[in-house]
Amino acid sequence: MVARNGPVTLDTWSSSDVDILERCNTPEAKRYVGGPETPEKLLDRHQRYLDKAIPGEIRMFRISCDGLGAGSIGYWERAWHGGLVYETGWAVVPDLQGRGIAGQAAALLIEVLLGERRHRYLHAFPASDNPASNAICRKLGFELMGECDFEYPPGNMMRSSDWRLDLQA
Ligand SMILES: CC(C)(COP(=O)(O)OP(=O)(O)OC[C@H]1O[C@@H](n2cnc3c(N)ncnc32)[C@H](O)[C@@H]1OP(=O)(O)O)[C@@H](O)C(=O)NCCC(=O)NCCS
Repeated sequence: MVARNGPVTLDTWSSSDVDILERCNTPEAKRYVGGPETPEKLLDRHQRYLDKAIPGEIRMFRISCDGLGAGSIGYWERAWHGGLVYETGWAVVPDLQGRGIAGQAAALLIEVLLGERRHRYLHAFPASDNPASNAICRKLGFELMGECDFEYPPGNMMRSSDWRLDLQA
């Protein structure tokens, strides 16, 4: 286990976690992130999560609640306005949403990143009309920098909020 907050834990992504990506791959759950992925894309994503794990650079975690797989969260580097920042993103399986799991997992991610960081800022770019993700950023002390056109996943443009957390504050 990498981090714990009551029943919510973060663990390094593992080969058996592909089912979490599958459970999150519904039209409703993918509504703000470009729609459901093909089985091939989903497996590519799973493989990337397994292969690319360098603390301080890029890491994906399984979110569990009471020991059961509940979602994914991670951080990675992104070039932004001429410098390198961290970006984060999260998902919780549909049947466990609305219980505060993503908010607690994001708080844990920040804790982990504070111990590993090389860059000052952590950004999140949820769709401007994604109420839950924008609420999580607001609650965890991210500052709203404005709105931007954002490409996620590659090939899909969306209107996003640019939230920034100062990890040095
Ligand atoms: C975004 C997502 C991870 C949130 O997961 P969750 O575990 O249900 O989130 P939480 O229960 O921690 O709720 C987060 C906050 O959003 C608020 N919220 C949820 N739905 C809301 C809505 N429709 N309107 C306003 N606020 C809402 C909750 O009240 C909560 O705030 P609070 O703690 O102040 O009460 C989940 O909806 C998801 O997986 N969505 C699909 C993937 C996605 O869009 N990821 C975002 C990429 S940035």
